[in-house]
Amino acid sequence: MVARLVVVSNRVALPTARKQAAGGLSIAVKAAMKGRTGVWFGWSGKVSENPPTQPQIIHRNKITFVVLDLSTADYQEYYSGYANRVLWPTLHYRVDLAEFTRTDFNGYVRVNQIFADNLSNIIQPEDIIWVHDYHLMPLARELRRRGHENPIGFFLHIPYPPPDILTTLPHHEESLGTLSYYDLVGFQTDNDRDNFGRYIVMLGGTEGRDGTSFTLDRRTIRVGTFPVGIETAIFARLARNAERSAFTRSVEESLGGKRLLVGADRLDYTKGLPNRMEGFAQFLLAYPEWHGRATLLQITPTSRADIQEYADMNRAVSELVGRINGHHGEADWTPIRYVNRTYSRTELAGIYRVADIALVTPLRDGMNLVAKEYVAAQDPEDPGVLILSQFAGAAADLDAALLINPHEVEAFPGAIKHALEMSLEERRERHGLMYKKIQEVDIHRWARRFLAALAQTQKAGLLEGIRSFLSAFA
Ligand code: F6P
Repeated sequence: MVARLVVVSNRVALPTARKQAAGGLSIAVKAAMKGRTGVWFGWSGKVSENPPTQPQIIHRNKITFVVLDLSTADYQEYYSGYANRVLWPTLHYRVDLAEFTRTDFNGYVRVNQIFADNLSNIIQPEDIIWVHDYHLMPLARELRRRGHENPIGFFLHIPYPPPDILTTLPHHEESLGTLSYYDLVGFQTDNDRDNFGRYIVMLGGTEGRDGTSFTLDRRTIRVGTFPVGIETAIFARLARNAERSAFTRSVEESLGGKRLLVGADRLDYTKGLPNRMEGFAQFLLAYPEWHGRATLLQITPTSRADIQEYADMNRAVSELVGRINGHHGEADWTPIRYVNRTYSRTELAGIYRVADIALVTPLRDGMNLVAKEYVAAQDPEDPGVLILSQFAGAAADLDAALLINPHEVEAFPGAIKHALEMSLEERRERHGLMYKKIQEVDIHRWARRFLAALAQTQKAGLLEGIRSFLSAFA
């Protein structure tokens, strides 16, 4: 029997959905599941007072989508509460924003148990289980408690900070520490992986001889770095075709020959939008010769709107944009176009293709696929320039971008001017290096390497079992 891949994530990109699920996770998992036989299990995105106890099941090609609705309490405590008001800020180094409550923590564990109960009805002994992101850290422990011995891997899409930050989280062993129940834990960067190693050692674990595994409470956890990529060639083709679309042409025409800078981020404090807007305003102040000649299009779909910090941010960014436009704008020129809506992949690909510069400047980001998509979308003969935060995971792969520290607002004007005036030769050279990299580390390699490493854990586990069995007779 062919082993099925059972993917578990909070959000599932349902084939029936009208809107594309936000964030890099859904793009990555969708691409990774292409051509594989398997199950994608998670939350339906629906919330109700009394959700049905049975999941909804949709079959599409070789994938079975199995999704559960959440109750209002589950949504508030597990998703908005512990996952997004505690784990999200803490793992993004923003302990000042974390708001821990025991009620939310209990809700988090409860939803992981509900997921495990439902998965128990689905999982077959030969299945490979791949769990994604911070919403589901305790899931392996819950599955083990229900008797499942399948290989279970976990991939964290967001950053993993050093232990000094992690230990600010009350009862961190009960959430972060439960990653030790996985056979393999994967991270976006070496830095994230090493921080995890330090944390496991701090909990009393020991590092294996080759540095790729740890033992804690007699459980072996293998670790690795698996940077998420994109479907590079497919995205490049999409952008080439989208350039000729009516939509892209109308965006270009609306610019009336002005140079275009683009930013595309979910509304989130980790994305550093106020710094970016202030940085662009400082560019306009420093280089008045660019007035009326460059426009920043900032595309920002709102998310997690019922969390106070997100609502506050939405207001703050809108006010900031209004102030900058009021101060610098002209009757025939709006310096910043701020758009709170979701565009399709094709529309985004077209915009990236015609944008002279992408501003991808998060304060902290697991990977950031917009950076990679922008590079893929460029015309290699006349490519645009990527300005990238050194704190995005993507900076490890894309070091030929113009790297900046987004905490220094004064770093923006120089980088933007350099990008706008960069010679064709330098643009081509930087783009060539980055394109080569994103071809190498594409999304299929990510999935292949992770699943191969997960399969290895089984072999290594068998060997260890045989060794300890033999040593009992020595
Ligand atoms: O990639 C990080 C992530 O939190 C994903 O887990 C998530 O699907 C995405 O960002 C978007 O966030 P949300 O699902 O909360 O809208």
